[in-house]
This record gives sequence, C-alpha cells and structure tokens, in this order.
Amino acid sequence: MCGIFAYTGNKGKEAGKILLNGLLSLEYRGYDSAGVYMPESGSVKTTGAVAELRRKLPKDFKGTSGIAHLRWATHGEPSEKNAHPHADCGGEIWVVHNGIIENFKELKEKLSKAGHTFASDSDTEVLAHLVEEHLKNQSAGGGSSSGGKNFEKAALAALNEVRGTYGIALQYKREPDRIIAARMGSPIVLGLGDGEHFIASDPAPILPHTRKVMFLEDGEVAVITPGKHRIFRLDSTTVKRKATEIDWSAEEAQKGGYEHFMLKEIMEGPEVVRNTLRGRLIPAKGFAKLGGLESVTKQLQRIDRIIIVACGTASYAGQVGEYMLEGHARIPVEVEIGSEFRYRKAVVNERTAVIGISQSGETLDTLEALREGKRHGALTLGIVNTVGSTIARETDAGVYNHAGPEISVASTKAFLSQMTALALLTVFLGRQRGMTEKEGREIALALKELPEKIEKILEQRGAIEQLAKKYSKNRDFLYIARTYNFPVALEGALKLKEISYIHAEGCAAGEMKHGPIAMIDGNFPTVAIATKDSVYEKMISNIHEIKARKGPVIAIATEGDREIAKLADDVIHVPKTMEMLSPILNVVPLQLFAYYLAKEKGLNVDRPRNLAKSVTVE
Ligand code: F6R
Repeated sequence: MCGIFAYTGNKGKEAGKILLNGLLSLEYRGYDSAGVYMPESGSVKTTGAVAELRRKLPKDFKGTSGIAHLRWATHGEPSEKNAHPHADCGGEIWVVHNGIIENFKELKEKLSKAGHTFASDSDTEVLAHLVEEHLKNQSAGGGSSSGGKNFEKAALAALNEVRGTYGIALQYKREPDRIIAARMGSPIVLGLGDGEHFIASDPAPILPHTRKVMFLEDGEVAVITPGKHRIFRLDSTTVKRKATEIDWSAEEAQKGGYEHFMLKEIMEGPEVVRNTLRGRLIPAKGFAKLGGLESVTKQLQRIDRIIIVACGTASYAGQVGEYMLEGHARIPVEVEIGSEFRYRKAVVNERTAVIGISQSGETLDTLEALREGKRHGALTLGIVNTVGSTIARETDAGVYNHAGPEISVASTKAFLSQMTALALLTVFLGRQRGMTEKEGREIALALKELPEKIEKILEQRGAIEQLAKKYSKNRDFLYIARTYNFPVALEGALKLKEISYIHAEGCAAGEMKHGPIAMIDGNFPTVAIATKDSVYEKMISNIHEIKARKGPVIAIATEGDREIAKLADDVIHVPKTMEMLSPILNVVPLQLFAYYLAKEKGLNVDRPRNLAKSVTVE
C-alpha cells in the first residue's frame, strides 16, 4: 500500500538522504513506483524501486525539506506520470496521497473548465490543482501569503471539497519549510524532532530520528515547520494532543540475519506466542487476564453473540477463533469477511460483540465492518498488532497481539499471535460462562507449552526445504483438513499462492467429494493436515480417497504416528497438543513449505507481486 514520508528541518541535514532512507523503510508496504519532491531541487519519479529513484537523482538534488511517496496503483496504471508527487499547473503546489479521492472526476471537470491542465490519470492530482485554484482566488481577493496562512487556507478549502479517503502531505514551493498533512481514513503520523519534523504513513521511517510521535485522527490537519507543529480540524478548530513514545527499536524492523523477513518472522513464532501470552495467564487458577478488556467487563457479560470481522489471513485466524470460542466458551460466533459484512444487512444489536482482527489495524474493510457494528449498537473489540492504529483507537476495547512489526507482506507471525490471543479470549470469556477451572487450567498449561513445540517444528526446516524442492515443479496443490484445522488448510493454500504464484485451494476434507476431488491425479499433490484429534480417522479415509486416484499426499501428522507414513508420500511431524490449539502448531510447516517453495522459484518472497502489506483501500 502507498507510503508517505515528509521532512522539514533547520539542522543543516540533507533532506534528500533522509527522504530516500525513509522510503526504504516503507518498502515493505508494497509499491509499484516512487517519487520525491524538494522545493529547492524539483521532483524525480520512477516506476522502479527506491534504489532506482536514488540512481536517478541529479548530483545537485539538495534541500532541507521535501515530500516523498511510494505508490500502489488505484487510479491509473503504474507509470512515471502517475507516480507521486503530483503538482499543479504552475509546478508550485505538490502533493503525495494515500487513499482515493472519490469525487475526482467532477472536480477534474470543474478545474479543467477553469483552465487547469492535468498531467496524469491519477485522482491525486486534482488536490494540487484545487489548492492552486483556491490560492488564485485568494490573491484575486487581495490576500497575501504571509506566514503561510494563505497556503493553509487554500489547503483547508480544498480538503473541505474532496470526498473519499486520504492521508496526504502538501508542500508549496514558495514556503519550502512548511508541510501540511491531513488524514481522512488513511493513517498519518507526525514525528516530533528537535529542530525537525516528520510526516509519515506509519512510524517506521520516523523511528531512526525520533520516538516521539502523534497520530492524526480522521478530519484533522497538521502543519509542520522545522521548529513547530500544529494540529487542527477541517473546521479550523484547534486540536490539543499529547505525544506518544513508540518503543519499537529500529533494529526490530531489520531481517535479523535471515535471507528474508518472512523466514525471520516465521522463526520468531515461539517468541511471538510467548509475548502474546506474557502476563495474561494464571495457569494455577485456569484464568486468563486481559487488561485491555477490563473497561468493558459489564458489557461483555451482556453479550450473547460474537461476530468476528477480518480479511485474508486474519479472517482465517477468526475462523479458528470461532471453533475455539464455540467449542470451549459456548458463545455463538460467526466470522465475516470485512468487505462482505460492511455491505450487507447483518442482524447486530447491543448484545452483539463485533471483534475486528487485524495485524496492521488499518485494513479499511475491517475498520468499516467495525464501524458498521458500532452504528448498530454493538460492543466493538479489536485484536490488533499495531499499537495506536486506527482499529485499536476506534474500538471500545481490545487485546494487543504484541507480535512486533511484521514486515514481510505475507502474514505469518501475526497469524500465530492472533490465534493465541483468541485462545486467551476463549479462556477469559469461557471462565465467565461456565468453563470449569480444570478445563481453563488444561488450556492454560497447553498454551504455555506451545513455544517449545513450535521450536521443535522449526528445527525441521531443512527437511521442509527439501520437500519444497521436491514439489517445486507442481503447478497445483490442494490443502485439506477438518474442524479446527480447516481454516489452517485455507491459510496454507493462501500462503502458497500469494508468494509462489502456484495455484492452491483449501477445502474442508469432507467437501472434497462434492467437487474438488475431480482435480486429483498424479500431478496434483494434496497437503493433508491429519494430526491425532477427534477427526483423525476421517482424515485417514480422505487420504485413502486421494491415494486411490494416484494423488501425491504430504501429511502433517502427530509425532509418533508411524502408520500414516505407509499411506502418505511425505510426512512432516508436529508435537502433540490439545485439539483446540493444534492450528497454532500445524500452520508452521505450511508457512515454511510456502516460503521455501517461493525461494526455490527465485521469487521476491517479501514483496509478492500485486500485493500490499497494509490494505487501506477497498
Ligand atoms: C496474507 C495477508 C493478508 C492479510 C489481510 C489483513 O498473508 O497478509 O491476507 O492478512 O490483508 O491484514 P490485516 O491483518 O493487517 O488487517
């Protein structure tokens, strides 16, 4: 997803260098083109990577402030002309933008009639022209650009005219040290330095410079100069906000010695589960303590139904949560994809809790689904990894994952932490609703043992790499499982297709004979999750069905299960745990399998084509 970074400083630092390094730390969001503008030097854009942008910069590209952008196309193809920053007719007003200006066509028409000429197909460009138009009208009315007031007024007037979502940074050539930022649905963070200020779409590019940040809310505008920052609303009323200290280290966002962020993040699995559990379990009493939910204890007692809303991998964690919460806390749960829930007329009331699960905390469809729940009086909760993100701030209460920043586009460690948080929630709510102390204790103890068990799976990564090599020529895969592991089959297939571009389908093993089994032949391998649990025998029957059609089978089986090796072509063994927690172990070999297969194919594992890390558009 697009990334914004802007800088203004009076410390004699080279802004160009700061801006490019900032863009590098935003690369993980996924992008197709990049660009930078500095009032003293002009603008340079490329359809390539940030490294290419750096190569294109002339030697004398220097200055003390500027705005920079990584674009992920929404309106207009990925091209240099559509890359940001975009400018007005006079090349004086420059803008970088994340989001979509929904009324850009009518604005473009109006501005064209007024004599503006457009250089791109991008919706963003209208913003620059709109500010130019307002500035022109002000000077026609006799205004002078003293202290940036006219630029601010023009920017505010333009923002009040646009509809849609935006996170933006605007700069005016004649006032080079002033940058205006605004937020409507797309995140904006201010970084507060000493004699320098920053604007970004997330804290990553700011952290090497300062830990002091401020998050803008929707409908807010910020003005930064080297020595000052101000926040106000679109109606010009002043906003007072306290700075937040971010405690991530910049190193946390590095690869830590692994070839790819994805492998690093898979290897972090044990630590991530420990971090999600830390301080939240009282095993002796079979309790879970979730401080983030204390403020809504009474409302939680009233709810009679849960709707989990999420997208992609997070929605599969939600499906695992459905099995956990219904199976052990006995609360009716439904899982809805954010983009579906927000547009249908679901029955929601004040006895419903709508839980949004999101690593980034910014996924627009999940956010809008939560807002829809709120409109109907539901209690809204978040299971979110990114502290201070929009979902974290807009929900009534929630549970943070504590998984640390996830850089690789494909979600791995966040998925483990989401399922772990859902297991904690199951104990937390279950114990309020008749779960016995014994059952609570059993789950708590099994949860505590998970990190070591994940370590044992990670030790087998060499063997999984060999397996990936063996199957790297296959073009199609089926993933099957039942009950708790059915969502893991969906996740295994998603992981494979998104990073290796190999066709993969996840299916409930019982559904196979209703269609998917028709695809099976000697070239169509099936990954079967068949650990020892309540549906083990059923899974064995399904594997027989596949073998009868000569389909190769890779089985995920419980340690000590020797029988399955007689049936399956290849077996990956995982330690035994309670059935409810088995998804947290069983997904790990599937993540490694997808990783090694994509690596074997020489693909850009961390930045798969067409995908973005944080999906802040619909
Ligand atoms: C897949 C993946 C996506 C995300 C989805 C939701 O590997 O990463 O499917 O899970 O876009 O993102 P968050 O969790 O940030 O809301």
